[in-house]
Amino acid sequence: MILLGIDTSCDDTSASVVKDRTQILSNIVSSQTDIHAKFGGIVPELASRRHIEMIVPIVNEAMQQAAVSFSDLAAVAVCHGPGLIGSLLVGCSFAKAVCFSQDVPLVGVNHLEGHILSLFLEEKRPEFPFLSLIVSGGHTSLYIAEGYGKYTELGRTRDDAAGEAFDKVSKLLGLEYPGGPVIDRLAREGNPQAIRFPRAYLPESFDFSFSGLKTAVLNHRMKHGMNPAHIPDIAASFQSAVVDVLVRKSEWAIKKKGIKRLTLSGGVSANSLLRMKMREMGKDRGVEVYIPSKELCTDNAAMIAAAGYHHAIEKDFAHLDLNPRAYLPL
Ligand code: KG4
Ligand code: ZN
Repeated sequence: MILLGIDTSCDDTSASVVKDRTQILSNIVSSQTDIHAKFGGIVPELASRRHIEMIVPIVNEAMQQAAVSFSDLAAVAVCHGPGLIGSLLVGCSFAKAVCFSQDVPLVGVNHLEGHILSLFLEEKRPEFPFLSLIVSGGHTSLYIAEGYGKYTELGRTRDDAAGEAFDKVSKLLGLEYPGGPVIDRLAREGNPQAIRFPRAYLPESFDFSFSGLKTAVLNHRMKHGMNPAHIPDIAASFQSAVVDVLVRKSEWAIKKKGIKRLTLSGGVSANSLLRMKMREMGKDRGVEVYIPSKELCTDNAAMIAAAGYHHAIEKDFAHLDLNPRAYLPL
């Protein structure tokens, strides 16, 4: 069963062709970093306009690279939320137009389900049930996944998402957007113990909080000024605080829920320290830890097609009046 996946939820225009949930025939991602970088964050109106320019060439490229035609498709799976409404509208409108004109069924996929099921595109796949930690620019949430479509949220961030904290701290330090990759790189040259930034463990809760940490970095900068030589130490100390919280919370969830499988997904799961510390924790606790390859951590349409597969199998198709939703719980 061949599915075309489309994701325009945020600032990447992506189209992908996936066979039988697991086999990626193409996965094209057009990043908009160049247009948003000078603003230090995503400008929604610019994101929508770029999606409009890119959606046709990106879908064509995905179809050509996969060497399939629209008549080969069992369905088109499109991300219809959560995300930026103007961005989502472009992908949804385009997907509906393809389905209407080519007489192909439409599947609406929640972006978060895409992140959870991104692991099924890897050779090593988790069995249900597993704990799933999504850490991205828009979300930091912990779920129990008991089967396809059966996800129970245990906790979520009460303020900033982990990726948002990376992006905001990067801006505070006068670094580039997106902040995650640059902090990850600079942290390798810094001392993670140089500054003891706070860790919000929120005892007895599966929730997260990163806004206090961001404020602590701002206060440190105001108190000590901005000596460029200290930036790697600040980056390393900040990153280590985020990673400590994510690892300790996951460890606690494993203990409380007695589930010995954990998946990590979303853009922040590309972070090298997080990948290493999570794997170490898994080894110590006898837990299988699954982390996607870096291309599948950040937003991509292959994960939308992979998640669309079980909806298509169950004939859980959307009508052509499917509307995108900025807020769409799983
Ligand atoms: O999943 P994603 O592509 O988009 C959302 O759904 O939000 O995640 C983007 C986020 C950004 O905040 C970016 O700074 C962060 O992922 N990110 C990283 C790394 N690579 C991307 N954060 C930490 N370390 C990285 N290596
Ligand atoms: Zn995402």
